[in-house]
Amino acid sequence: MTTIPFHDPAPVLRLHNLKVQFVGSPVSVLDGISLTIKSGETLALVGESGCGKSITSLALMGLLPSSAQILSGEMQFRSHNLRQLSPREYADLRGNELAMIFQEPMTSLNPSFTLGDQLSEAVMRHQHVSRHIARDIALQILEKVQIPAAEMRLKAYPHQLSGGMRQRVMIAMALINNPRLLIADEPTTALDVTIQAQILALLNTLKAETGTAVLMITHDLGVVAEVAQQVAVMYAGQVVEQGSVEAIFADPQHPYTIGLMGSIPSLGARKGQLSTIPGTVPLPEAMPKGCRFATRCPFAQSRCHAEKPALQPLGRGHQAACFRVPLEQHIALGETA
Ligand SMILES: Nc1ncnc2c1ncn2[C@@H]1O[C@H](COP(=O)(O)OP(=O)(O)OP(=O)(O)O)[C@@H](O)[C@H]1O
Ligand code: SF4
Ligand SMILES: [Mg+2]
Repeated sequence: MTTIPFHDPAPVLRLHNLKVQFVGSPVSVLDGISLTIKSGETLALVGESGCGKSITSLALMGLLPSSAQILSGEMQFRSHNLRQLSPREYADLRGNELAMIFQEPMTSLNPSFTLGDQLSEAVMRHQHVSRHIARDIALQILEKVQIPAAEMRLKAYPHQLSGGMRQRVMIAMALINNPRLLIADEPTTALDVTIQAQILALLNTLKAETGTAVLMITHDLGVVAEVAQQVAVMYAGQVVEQGSVEAIFADPQHPYTIGLMGSIPSLGARKGQLSTIPGTVPLPEAMPKGCRFATRCPFAQSRCHAEKPALQPLGRGHQAACFRVPLEQHIALGETA
């Protein structure tokens, strides 16, 4: 009898209308974020600096600074309602089913302990195995992330590694307990292009082997194209467009996405990195009441300054939050404002 592989259609992660605010701030730093990630899928979260990418990941990990408060919304991770977990339950999930590679390279590595000790500790915290077995698992994961002379490296300290090797160890640390969701916040930004390509290839291989879902935070459209199947574009605490990689690259609809991609000549040339859009993200105290992008949008009309656009379906899961989609008709007419 042949076994039919079980395909779990339920999303690994579902964020719905998540709102987060810093104490004393007049506006939400996350203003109604909704995202879904399925098993084995990578969702890239892109947007300019300060748009709320890291705050989204910290909210998910239960690691928001104490000055930030979740106002409303749902965070469902597998069978766990993340908003109802006790600190103890959250700590049990982190580094186990839910893992993160932090933006700051040394965040997850302790400079005073050897790699072997740190990796073994991470195993023993979540799996009931002896120190000896934990060390074997540590060795296997170092080999899996292609650390040369892995056995010897178990005795090394983090500062004895190159940047690329340290990043591999961070990936090993994040994956050692087979997480169902891996959050990677700019995991390759600090690395040179060759090492970056190797690390991305490694993440792709490991994801294919394990079916881990990945939330990849990045500024780099080259990284998006390399690893992601889905993309969510954030601006000033909101998701303004989301869809498949194909839809977002071939048919970006939100003026902000179009600007980032450099697809409109006046907004910059197409290149690997996100393009620069004239102007800056509004400060919280000057956040527009209507569309948050209105102060920088070449297509803004009076309605945009008064009303908030909601995400509109454009077919096949592609959505954009703009009153003027589809934009082709305005661009064809040479129209802007
Ligand atoms: N501890 C804090 N107190 C007050 N505001 C904060 C704090 N941490 C972050 N912010 C604000 O929250 C917003 C979102 O920050 P976040 O770190 O999520 O941005 P990001 O999209 O990850 O940017 P980058 O690409 O630079 O990493 C920013 O405007 C930032 O100023
Ligand atoms: S709603 Fe208006 S201001 Fe906002 S992106 Fe669309 S056209 Fe621009
Ligand atoms: Mg960040």
